Amino acid sequence: MLRVAVLASGRGSNLAALIQAQNPDWQVLGVFSDKPDCNALKLAAAAGLIAVALKPRDYDNRAAFDHALFTAVESVQPDLIVCAGYMRIISSDALARIRIPMINIHPSLLPRHRGLDTHARALAAADSVHGCSVHQVIPELDAGPVLAQARLAIHAGDTVQTLARRVLELEHRLLPACVDAIAKGRIRLQADAVHFEGRRLHAPLRWQNDSLQPER
Ligand code: GRF
Repeated sequence: MLRVAVLASGRGSNLAALIQAQNPDWQVLGVFSDKPDCNALKLAAAAGLIAVALKPRDYDNRAAFDHALFTAVESVQPDLIVCAGYMRIISSDALARIRIPMINIHPSLLPRHRGLDTHARALAAADSVHGCSVHQVIPELDAGPVLAQARLAIHAGDTVQTLARRVLELEHRLLPACVDAIAKGRIRLQADAVHFEGRRLHAPLRWQNDSLQPER
């Protein structure tokens, strides 16, 4: 069984999707946060998971906070760390030290729209497609190898709210599917590459017909 630790800072809807989807191949063991009052921690506690919150202001600097956070994460001996709406930048020192693979869900089709306000930026750029990506976490923000993406078409009447809702529905499918594929050994993560069913990916997997498909 793949042991999963989740980092989250807010609403926790992706965490809820993960908890719902876990199966004998993988389990969420603990949730770790920089926001003691966030809903994600409440969901974790309600699900009987280890729920740990550390306050950044209790630490001298980012490196000290990250050291404490990842020491807590490591205490559950995870095989995989999933950032599911974790909104704090992680120091490159901490990322270099962690030997556990780490993935993140991001609400855009990377490399388009790294960072925040992705739905507004997709609309402002008059993009015709948008979606979400699951990628490996590396020191550069939203820049690690992309495992998989789910796409949708932007319609004429779309607003930030309609896009956010539709992309979030895709996130709730894509993220658990990626964790499941890692747990079942279909996806293998290397430092600078992603392998799917034994082959190195040259383009992200696509979420299509309710499954992960390699780009043809
Ligand atoms: C999601 O849109 C995720 O892609 C982004 O932050 C949001 C978190 O939502 N990184 P939730 O806390 O999982 O509901």
